[in-house]
Amino acid sequence: MDPSTLETIGRYDFEGQMKAPCFTAHPKFDPDTGEMVAFAYEAGGNGHDASCDIVVWTFEPIHGKKTEETWYKAPFCGMIHDSALTENYLILPMTPLKSDLDRLKSGGNHWSWDPDEDQYYGIVPRRGGNPDDIIWLRAKNGFHGHVAGAYEDENGHIVCDSTVADGNVFFWWPPSNAEPQAKARQKLISDTYRWVFNPKSQTDTQVTPFKLYGINGEFSRIDDRFVTKYYSHFWQLQMDPTRFYDVEKCGPPAGGLWNVIGHYNWETGVKDEYFYGPTCTFQEPVFIPKAGSTIEGEGYLVALLNHLDVQRNDILIFNALNLAQGPIASVHLPLRVRMGLHGNFVDQNEIDEWSRRRSQAGDLGPVSVAGKDEVEM
Ligand SMILES: [Fe+2]
Repeated sequence: MDPSTLETIGRYDFEGQMKAPCFTAHPKFDPDTGEMVAFAYEAGGNGHDASCDIVVWTFEPIHGKKTEETWYKAPFCGMIHDSALTENYLILPMTPLKSDLDRLKSGGNHWSWDPDEDQYYGIVPRRGGNPDDIIWLRAKNGFHGHVAGAYEDENGHIVCDSTVADGNVFFWWPPSNAEPQAKARQKLISDTYRWVFNPKSQTDTQVTPFKLYGINGEFSRIDDRFVTKYYSHFWQLQMDPTRFYDVEKCGPPAGGLWNVIGHYNWETGVKDEYFYGPTCTFQEPVFIPKAGSTIEGEGYLVALLNHLDVQRNDILIFNALNLAQGPIASVHLPLRVRMGLHGNFVDQNEIDEWSRRRSQAGDLGPVSVAGKDEVEM
């Protein structure tokens, strides 16, 4: 999409460098190198043939040139939605939602929840990988939400934080021969887990969580300048059933009620939370650093708020380190934005630079967003 006009440009395959039929919705950007690390799963054939192939790519930031590409095999064709990036590794959480070619051929669902299967974490090296390098760590059954942050500790172990629900969030893809259980979905707990992985482990090693935060939510965000690095602050939407919800005015909340927005800190264990009111639900926030600051978390948390009683939205801007004081500014939108926002903040300078490069390129093909330090390739 053209980021200025939102006009559709077309499917982008990195000028032919990407051959797989699919691409993750959650590539990661290394703030030190500017590289984009991305992956695809069920990537070997046409993208809907239950292949166990996984591909991991790295693209450099100036021209979008592919610098790494390695193909791996998964133990089964499972869903891998988000990923985590450290200085030396990409972590691929594989959820026991499985595809099966026979089921596809008979017209069945693409995915099916397996309540008896482990959750998996694929660990792949970022540099010079080969197909044998992947290791798969296993933990008891669970459903991966989104990743908060990840980094390598002083022992060379990988600290990786993410939400994991204790059952099938995607209830519309039940186990084979079972009916969807929409009500069971409402009872799931989605705590935030801290894992510590040893990248030298043997494949199939069982792992257990290092720590739980004790909150039930999703859509974790961090200060993106700290992707791959030690971090402590994260932000997340919460479902808090103890808060009053005005069902008479709003009706049942479609897609769940994210009625609390929270700021958390692994070091202090703080629960700095804000509840807007009984007729409101939040959408996924983004963190925007304060101009000129390099301190983790110093900046703004921006989130859409849905007023479910009057079908209207606000954009709320918080001091990211003090959500409990409430928004420091609100933009009242005269319209409703449906639930489902999911994305990243992009600075206007980057969009301007992209536009400049696109016009310089002299054609309508997409060009990569340039980093600040331009180099000859
Ligand atoms: Fe996502």
